[in-house]
Parts: sequence; C-alpha cells; structure tokens
Amino acid sequence: MSKVTVVGAGKYGSTTAQRIAEWDIVDEVVMTDIVEGLPQGLALDMNQSRPVVGYRTLVTGTNDYADTAGSDVVVITAGLPRKPGMSRMDLLEVNAGIVKAVTEEIVARSPDAVIIVVTNPLDQMVALAADVSGFPKHRVLGQAGMLDSARFAHFISEATGHDVLDITAVTLGSHGETMVPVPSLCTVGDTPLSDALDAATIEELVDRTRKGGAEIVAYLKTGSAYYAPSAAAAAMVKAVVEDSRAEMPVCAWMTGQYGISDVYLGVMAKLGRNGVEEVAEVELTESELAGLVEAAAAVKEKVADLDQIQQ
Ligand code: APR
Repeated sequence: MSKVTVVGAGKYGSTTAQRIAEWDIVDEVVMTDIVEGLPQGLALDMNQSRPVVGYRTLVTGTNDYADTAGSDVVVITAGLPRKPGMSRMDLLEVNAGIVKAVTEEIVARSPDAVIIVVTNPLDQMVALAADVSGFPKHRVLGQAGMLDSARFAHFISEATGHDVLDITAVTLGSHGETMVPVPSLCTVGDTPLSDALDAATIEELVDRTRKGGAEIVAYLKTGSAYYAPSAAAAAMVKAVVEDSRAEMPVCAWMTGQYGISDVYLGVMAKLGRNGVEEVAEVELTESELAGLVEAAAAVKEKVADLDQIQQ
C-alpha cells in the first residue's frame, strides 16, 4: 500500500497528481487544497479517466488533512505565484506562511513521509519545510534541477535537431540566476555537447534555460509553467516510491560534498525510500565547481532572509 499526497490542487499540484496516478505506481493519491470543492471535483474527473487511460490508482480530493495520514511521499505545491506589485520579500512572506502551516499539518499525520517541495521561492521554501518538519534533512528535498535540465535538453534538441530522448543535459546549483549548467556532462547522442554546438550557441541556450520560467509566464500572462514542472516532480515521487535509487538533479541538503555544507543546493542525487539516499559527487571542471560554490553562497544568503520574516 503506497500513498502520495499532493498539497495544492492548482495547476502544478493537479497535473502532478494526474501524472502519478496515470503511471499506476501507487494505490492512492490524495490531493488537498484550501479551496472547497476544487480537489474533490478534479479528483472525480481524474478517476473517471481511469477506464479510458487504463490505470487503477484512485485520487482522493479533500480539504481535510486527516485524509493525508500515513502518506509515504508528500509534494507541497501550495502557494501563490508572484503578483504584479509584489516584491520578492512579499512573496516570500506569503508563501513562507503557507508552507509552514502545510508542513505542520503534514508531519503531524505522516511522520515518516518524504517531503518534496516545489513552491517558490524554492530554496527558501525547502529550507523552511525542513526546519519546521524536524525531519532528517535527507527526507526533505526540492524540485528545481530536474526541470532546468529538462528545459536545457529540449533547447539542445531544438538547436541540434537531435532526438530529445537521446540527449543528456545537466544543470546544478539552483533555480534562476544561480543555475549552474554543467556542459562537461551534457551529451548529444555519443557526442559531447561542446562538439555538437559552438560555445556561443551553448551560452544562448543556457541563458534561455535560466529564464525558462519567465519565458512561459510572459506567454501565459497569468500563472506559471506546470507541464514540465509536474513531470519533474512526479519523476522524483516515482523514484522514492519505487525505491529505485535513480540519479537525478534535485535540491538536496549538503553535508560536505564538493566542500559545501549546511545548505540545500541543486546536485545530482540518488533517490529512494529515504528521500535522498546519496548525493552523487560528479566530476566537475574548475569553473563548474566554482559556479556551484558561488550558488551555495547565494542560496545561504537568500535563506537568511527567512529569519527576517519569522520574528
Ligand atoms: N493549503 C493548501 N493549498 C493552498 C494553500 C494552503 N494553505 N494556500 C494556497 N493553496 C492552493 C491554492 O488554493 C491553489 O489552488 O495552492 C494552489 C496553487 O495553485 P496555482 O495558483 O495554480 O499555482 P501553481 O501554478 O500550481 O504553482 C504552485 O509552484 O511553481 C510554483 O511558483 C509556483 O509557488 C507556486 C507553486
């Protein structure tokens, strides 16, 4: 019996629930939200798709945390997107309040769960959830690197015309400005990325990846991306529930890898039943390593902002 809870039945949460359900890898997906009727309606709709798509997982829509009890994995998507006129600190304050409250509800009923946070601003929200939960740090992680790597792979595929499924793209660090692309680990088929594209083109694609979220927001006008983000979060859930030890870029707690400690950072990690089973120290060039160290310092600075609003 395995059970996954997705908190937040907005675009990101509902799509994540749908993907996990359609893979038929757990018995139940619980979707919860503060808006009454929203998770119930979406769950009923998803469940009615089962005979057509061909899967058995049941989705339970609820506004009651009692239904989340005993979850193996909890994905936290609850939160607001940034609105016009809202400063970064305003968003931080609002979403910190939501993530804190959600985490408390979750840990009270699922003390052994693995928590995957996707709410933005990601670095701060993962650190906050870990703090509030009191869980061992390996059982709280965030989604960012899977998404950035997927976006990078898509852009490389477009630029080279190569099969997207035969491209390996890796980004570490964190979301946005502190994203650290790792060209030395990127391949197009058997060819190193640096042989497939010139340096200027690679830099253009890296830049577009860094701003990947904003590009989509500019098209949508309201709301942000959720298809690729939910695919990334669902893949992390799958690795945990299947205890597969699949290696992927995630936001994980650092305990000395690359000489970096005491910060959540985007790195390659093996995921399993215990969340992050192992942070994989991959071989980086000198400048890639410098980028990672710089990203860690930037994240630490951002996380310090949390202290200002928790008074
Ligand atoms: N408990 C449960 N759900 C909540 C709470 C709460 N305390 N507060 C807000 N929500 C719900 C909202 O009711 C809404 O249904 O969170 C959902 C958010 O959904 P959307 O507005 O559609 O946002 P979405 O695109 O899903 O993004 C969610 O992920 O990528 C990040 O920046 C994004 O932080 C945002 C999050």
